[in-house]
Amino acid sequence: MKPLRSFGRAEPWRIGNVSIIVSMILSFCILSLIKARYGSSPCGNSQVSLKLMAPTQANLKMVTDENGEPTLPEEEDDEENSTVVHTGKPICYETSKRSDTCEAEGDIRVHGSSRTVFIRPTSLKQERKMKPYARKNDPVASANVKEWSLKPLTSHQPPPECTKNHSIPAMILSIGGFTGNLFHDFTDVLVPLFISSHQFHGEVQFLMSDFRSWWVNKFILIFRQLSNYEIIDVDSDQESIRCFPRMIMGPSFHKVLGVDSSRSPMGYSVVDFKAVLRKAYGLERANVTPPQDEWDIRRRPRLLIISRKKTRRFLNEGGMVDMAMSLGFEVRIGQADMHTDVAKFARLVNSADVMIGVHGAGLTNMVFLPAGAVVIQVVPMGGLEWLIKETFQDPAEELQLKYLEYRIQADESTLSEQYPRDHPVLANPSKIRGRGWDALKSVYLDNQDVRPHLGRLRNTLMEALKHLPHKRIS
Ligand SMILES: *[C@@H]1O[C@H](CO)[C@@H](O)[C@H](O)[C@H]1NC(C)=O
Ligand SMILES: *[C@@H]1O[C@H](CO)[C@@H](O)[C@H](O)[C@H]1NC(C)=O
Repeated sequence: MKPLRSFGRAEPWRIGNVSIIVSMILSFCILSLIKARYGSSPCGNSQVSLKLMAPTQANLKMVTDENGEPTLPEEEDDEENSTVVHTGKPICYETSKRSDTCEAEGDIRVHGSSRTVFIRPTSLKQERKMKPYARKNDPVASANVKEWSLKPLTSHQPPPECTKNHSIPAMILSIGGFTGNLFHDFTDVLVPLFISSHQFHGEVQFLMSDFRSWWVNKFILIFRQLSNYEIIDVDSDQESIRCFPRMIMGPSFHKVLGVDSSRSPMGYSVVDFKAVLRKAYGLERANVTPPQDEWDIRRRPRLLIISRKKTRRFLNEGGMVDMAMSLGFEVRIGQADMHTDVAKFARLVNSADVMIGVHGAGLTNMVFLPAGAVVIQVVPMGGLEWLIKETFQDPAEELQLKYLEYRIQADESTLSEQYPRDHPVLANPSKIRGRGWDALKSVYLDNQDVRPHLGRLRNTLMEALKHLPHKRIS
């Protein structure tokens, strides 16, 4: 299983952002000071905010990747008119800091083996290259994503002959990057794909680059909800030229495990995504309402403990189970890895009312929880607030879940067996964080197991019970 390496990019990235803003303000101030000599207003009045909303070309070009390292802007951005079609609609646009999406209508010809899309008509003046995966500034993810070219077809150029005519739109995406980690599977690929393709009601052809059949098969039931057609492994599509009336290339990423319904086609939200998942896996429960039949065992609230095998393990699972049962819970333990049968696991999760797990990809399974369920993120030591928030806390609410947290204290962490009490690892995590993502990951994420105090955890579970509609058992 791949580490959740990209999570950690969030923090330095924000620092990068701050430096961009600071440099934007600085450059504006300098500009205004120069301007002030000629009688225009000095830095500090209300024009500052206006100016910031419309940064200068120079500012726009300053892009940082998620490591906070400055990266060179893509050349295409220089040529303003090259990304505009005749209708004035942009071919390629940024759908988020992480993703670009290119769209075109007309005569679209896809040559899979060279990963080239020929487009006509278009005002695209020169070739544009892009990697259709939602981590465009992450060099580690991008290394596993093949590059595609969009090429304008001019009238004096004979187009390549179509070997197959399609009457439906094509959706071109890479399933390389960080896929194989459940969090990334959903965040980088499945949710963005839903955003772009649900509007077609299945009448869309998926062309997948960096194809791996085990991964496609793992989520095939979701893909079948989104497309009525066999997925094409486009890199090995030999010499065929597939022709389409329309294409969308690249993911529309909005936010982690979420959909911004104000920007999605037809106003779809993540609630619609959950409905797709329920249909895909035959999940019975849209919400946590318990069965009315008083003999039904499911009347008891169900707790699912997400178990991890290698890192960030619960060391007292047995004790946790006993304690939860004493509160009236029916308890299940679920442990998923890369090759877990998603359908089976999704049904297990959907049957739960409360899901608890230590921060990690397994918590992504919360997408299968019924609305009104409670998700409890156990936060290991290490001042990981930003990570905790971005990955699961923020998405939980949108997924219609009640979010609770259980924060591990020093005496509940195996770190207190590895380090003396006054060691920075225990006493001053921000010092470790200052050494960068790799240091932080190796100390707090890869080498920490937890043993929650049952008494304290009991309070959190009792809090969870309060949010459930189930009758109190005891
Ligand atoms: C871009 O296109 C507009 C409208 O067609 C035109 O007025 C403008 O001069 C063009 N700019 C460049 C840089 O080619
Ligand atoms: C695809 O459509 C074009 C235009 O209608 C036609 O000329 C061509 O023969 C078709 N190709 C195939 C393989 O059906």
